[in-house]
Amino acid sequence: MRVSWLDNDAEISEAELGRVGVLHQRLPLDDYQGALDRLKAERGYVAQDIVELRPDMPNLAAVCDKFKDEHLHRDDEVRFVLAGAGVFDIRSAEGRWMRLEVEASDLIVVPADLYHRFFLTDRQEIRCVRLFKDAAGWVPEYRGE
Ligand code: LAC
Ligand code: NI
Repeated sequence: MRVSWLDNDAEISEAELGRVGVLHQRLPLDDYQGALDRLKAERGYVAQDIVELRPDMPNLAAVCDKFKDEHLHRDDEVRFVLAGAGVFDIRSAEGRWMRLEVEASDLIVVPADLYHRFFLTDRQEIRCVRLFKDAAGWVPEYRGE
């Protein structure tokens, strides 16, 4: 995963990510469930599913449109990337965007109540495991002007 400030492209350390509450780990693609189970137990996630975005999906543009505007959730956004790639922009406390470029093997947790947005890369493809504290909490709240 590459993490950098969007405005000047300077690299961001894992420690700095930790200060905004973002968790990042690399997990092996052939042996990740144990680590996810520990994360569930530690942080109270109860539901798990898989989400996939692919270039041949007829509703791909509509789905991507929902993610590209700045929003937050009342639940953590937990994603373990199985394949493909994506870009998360996360608002720092000072209002600057932190850009996280994720690929297969990256596990990230965007904590509840932190503004973010998401884009696919040119490949337009990603497959992720998601974890939830409560599936009903998965409602984006968009940032007003
Ligand atoms: C979501 C991401 C992609 O809300 O931000 O699912
Ligand atoms: Ni989100």
